[in-house]
Amino acid sequence: MRTTRLATAALTALALFTPLTASADEAPADDIAADSAGHARKDTLRGAAPKGFHIGTAVAGGGHHETMPYPDPFTSDQPYRAVLAAEFDSVSAENQMKWEYIHPERDKYNFGMADAIVKFAQRNRQVVRGHTLLWHNQNPAWLTGGTFTKDELRSILRDHIKTVVGRYRGKIQQWDVANEIFTDSGQLRTTENIWIRELGPGIIADAFRWAHEADPKAKLFFNDYNVESVNAKSNAYLALIKELKAQGVPVDGFSAQSHLSTRYGFPGDLETNLKRFSALGLETAITELDVRMDLPADGVPTAAQLAQQADYYNRTLTACLAVKGCDSFTIWGFTDKYSWVPVFFQGEGAATVMWDDFAKKPAYYALKETLAKADRR
Ligand code: G3I
Repeated sequence: MRTTRLATAALTALALFTPLTASADEAPADDIAADSAGHARKDTLRGAAPKGFHIGTAVAGGGHHETMPYPDPFTSDQPYRAVLAAEFDSVSAENQMKWEYIHPERDKYNFGMADAIVKFAQRNRQVVRGHTLLWHNQNPAWLTGGTFTKDELRSILRDHIKTVVGRYRGKIQQWDVANEIFTDSGQLRTTENIWIRELGPGIIADAFRWAHEADPKAKLFFNDYNVESVNAKSNAYLALIKELKAQGVPVDGFSAQSHLSTRYGFPGDLETNLKRFSALGLETAITELDVRMDLPADGVPTAAQLAQQADYYNRTLTACLAVKGCDSFTIWGFTDKYSWVPVFFQGEGAATVMWDDFAKKPAYYALKETLAKADRR
């Protein structure tokens, strides 16, 4: 893979941004993604984006990164931080706001990294997507292995939501309140999801209500993968959200993660599907886009593979831009250096828009061009 070529972008960034200081909490001068008047540099994704349209990325840290032979990306990789600040005006915590990370013991929260991300975002005039509050995955052992009464479990979830959402009140644009609650066949995850299993499906509405009480301005989302198309899973979301809205539950949005693979083709009805949710008065979003591919034996994608990848990125963006209320478009990491894909899918990779050294792929340029041309009136 192309790990040695130092990108012009990274060099420029290094020249522009002063060195990082020791702690994630100290403010390095990497907050000059915008000029003194607050305008982003034109030659970036955020600079090219139409007004009110947020272009985001996951902030690498926690999860699979903890088993990799490199230090924490967000706090340790200075060129990474420079690109993060320069190119994006929305950030999502990849792992740092998940239960196992932020609430490692019953009576102990670990806010350090989440605080640092929110602070970084504020300095860089970025909005933040919070991820996530009710999920079947990445829950701490004290929770999944503990013995609790139903009342105790309910108050554990309520306290967690009130504490975490409340801490960042006014600072989070969108929360993925409920993540991946349906199977691909459109069934609620009644065994895997501890909350639904133990407390019943009504807990989903409660989670939204508690999040709304804790931060009335944050937009509250359902978020899932394999919901890009009209299918059993997205149909299940549509039906559930209709029901919840009719009950007055504060649901604001529906988002398609969009972990795509060139193996499976492009979900050509993405726009049609998102419009079904938009017609309910919901916001929509693309929250975790990446496009993985089967790597050739030498690990280097062919030009044709990169072109196909660029096409998938571009069509996803084009679909979102065409939907009223789809104002948030996030990629799940921007550099292959830190992508989750090779860790999970053997033989697949190169899923992001930049190489390991932050050199830009055709997918990056495709996104920028489409953003620059977008007419959202
Ligand atoms: O929990 C085990 C632990 O018991 C074990 O000792 C350790 C050593 O291998 O692994 C731990 O699991 C890791 C997990 O994060 C929890 O820290 C996995 O190996 C690791 O691969 C995993 O990665 C994260 C993954 O979510 C977990 O589902 C990725 O960093 C993160 O990018 C990914 O993000 C998700 C979104 O949140 C939701 N949508 C899908 C997306 C991609 O999977």
